[in-house]
Amino acid sequence: MNDKLIVLLTSRLKISTKVQNTMLRTHTCGELRLSHVNQTVTLAGWVQRLRDKGGIMWIDLRDRYGITQLVLEEGVTHPSLIEKARNLGREFVIQATGTVKERLAKNDKLPTGEVEVRLTGLEQLNPSKVPPFTIEDESDGGEELRMKYRYLDLRRNPLRQNLELRHQMARQTRAYLDSLHFIEVETPVLIKSTPEGARDFVVPSRLHPGEFYALPQSPQTFKQLLMVSGFDRYYQIVKCFRDEDFRADRQPEFTQIDCEMSFVTQEDILNTFEGLIRHLFKTVKGIELPPVPRMSYEDALRQYGSDKPDIRFEMKFTELKNLEEKSDLTSGKNFGVFDGAELVAGICAPGCANYSRKQLDELTEFVKRPQVGAKGLVYVQYKSDGTFKSSVDKFYTADELRQWAERFGAQPGDLMLILAGEKQSTRKQLSELRLLMGEQLGLRKKDAFAALWVLDFPLLEWNEETQRYHAMHHPFTSPKAEDLHLLETNPAKVRANAYDMVLNGTEIGGGSVRIHDRSTQQRMFNVLGFTNEEARKQFGFLMEAFEYGAPPHGGIAFGFDRLCALFGGSDSIRDVIAFPKNNAGRDMMIDTPSPISDEQLQELHIRIAHH
Ligand code: AMO
Repeated sequence: MNDKLIVLLTSRLKISTKVQNTMLRTHTCGELRLSHVNQTVTLAGWVQRLRDKGGIMWIDLRDRYGITQLVLEEGVTHPSLIEKARNLGREFVIQATGTVKERLAKNDKLPTGEVEVRLTGLEQLNPSKVPPFTIEDESDGGEELRMKYRYLDLRRNPLRQNLELRHQMARQTRAYLDSLHFIEVETPVLIKSTPEGARDFVVPSRLHPGEFYALPQSPQTFKQLLMVSGFDRYYQIVKCFRDEDFRADRQPEFTQIDCEMSFVTQEDILNTFEGLIRHLFKTVKGIELPPVPRMSYEDALRQYGSDKPDIRFEMKFTELKNLEEKSDLTSGKNFGVFDGAELVAGICAPGCANYSRKQLDELTEFVKRPQVGAKGLVYVQYKSDGTFKSSVDKFYTADELRQWAERFGAQPGDLMLILAGEKQSTRKQLSELRLLMGEQLGLRKKDAFAALWVLDFPLLEWNEETQRYHAMHHPFTSPKAEDLHLLETNPAKVRANAYDMVLNGTEIGGGSVRIHDRSTQQRMFNVLGFTNEEARKQFGFLMEAFEYGAPPHGGIAFGFDRLCALFGGSDSIRDVIAFPKNNAGRDMMIDTPSPISDEQLQELHIRIAHH
């Protein structure tokens, strides 16, 4: 889409303080300015605050668009209005008519702060109970209470702004994709399970005893079928359902920007959707996002210990020992922990050489927490006078520590923090430590954004529990052509045409180029341990479709809630969802999940086992 058109569209999308008159109001509470002085206006909204100074009384009236001050004065305002006003309380809904006047004491914090409305009419449209928490930007209500009264919480500015932001994000997503000829197609919600790695939510069928629908974890198979149908470029802003454990960035129902394209290579897909993210940054936040850098999965793990590195800051890993490679700077000095380790690696925290004993102990305790799981932490302080002080001074000479410092690229004044052990877990632990240090050093600012493509994911991962390979992304992801010959002989080594987009250390999207021929898909199912019969039963429809001229295709899905949370600076995706579940998967407001009646159960042919 050309930039001019997009800007035009955006300006139309801006949340305006002006809306069309209705019978109950002429203006909104965010609209009045000095230019309205002496006009007669009617506003409607909620009582934010009442101040009664005896002779004079102020009401702050609030709606979605802002706050306007109303004023009543003895001797000026009709006594019956003053009487009515004295009977109002917080959150009462009123309609107020009056004349706009310039204020003597202006409030430069409010857009309407230069004027007030001198009342000539007042109607109480509805009273309100005293709300269980204050409807202010910083509320006094706890999270659970605010979840129970979510409709009141949504009256607060921060949440209202989040939903407005979400609306903008959706509008801009549609504008961008529409300009590239994507069409939005709805796919069904009552489906059969799609294996994306999480558990399905299921819905019992009344008409078919003992049979169930599943709610989609994503529209994956449908969007592929739409490609077979020739739709070419599909998208959908769509609810997905996954019965997984909770985290701040997970909800059992969440929204994806789900996309698929035909006749494209991975490169086309990356460019198209990098374009989407940059478009969103530009139009919603006014930020020119630089081209998104790319990193292989392998490099991400080696340098950051994570497949979703936060690259707002550097602090890459340095390896002092890696059993798979030579150049070991640690072994043979009688330090058992390092001698027995597969990997010895660390980070260099700039300017932290003077950390106190207490600070170092706190870091050690952090890595030893069960959630992180390291056995201990080795530190080397590279003092500004060029000397070293470390927790392993007993084993290593100053010269040896200097060699380490060189490999780290450390400068006098820096602190090296080192972990050792089995490769994979050590990297994970070090990644946690790196994020903590980034946080402590103020390197993870909410208003700084660093996006990253992570490429070349492995196709499969071994699952200890089930003792078989699982698809790392999903079973429809294509293996890299150059690795395909290893599919049966060395499955773990096969890389996929799969990619994730990471923003500030959060996975905001993932996708792949798909398999589009029946025989490769069949091979993939076999490697995943499906018998031909099982594969046919579960995915026969897709494999059959592949025999009717499936075009090469691929796609991606973005986590829309996560994207909105990052754009809005929220720590939890709950803050950008109108009616979210709490961290136990409950909706506290409507109180669900909840039992259903015996009649309903019977109709659905479900017997509950009572203990
Ligand atoms: P994937 O499973 O990676 O891919 O999901 C895509 C994106 O959705 C977001 N996400 C979630 N957000 C909130 N709560 C959750 N429980 C949750 N789970 C996932 C993440 C993730 O990157 N069908 C494929 C996409 C494809 O291949 O095209 C899919 O669903 O941001």
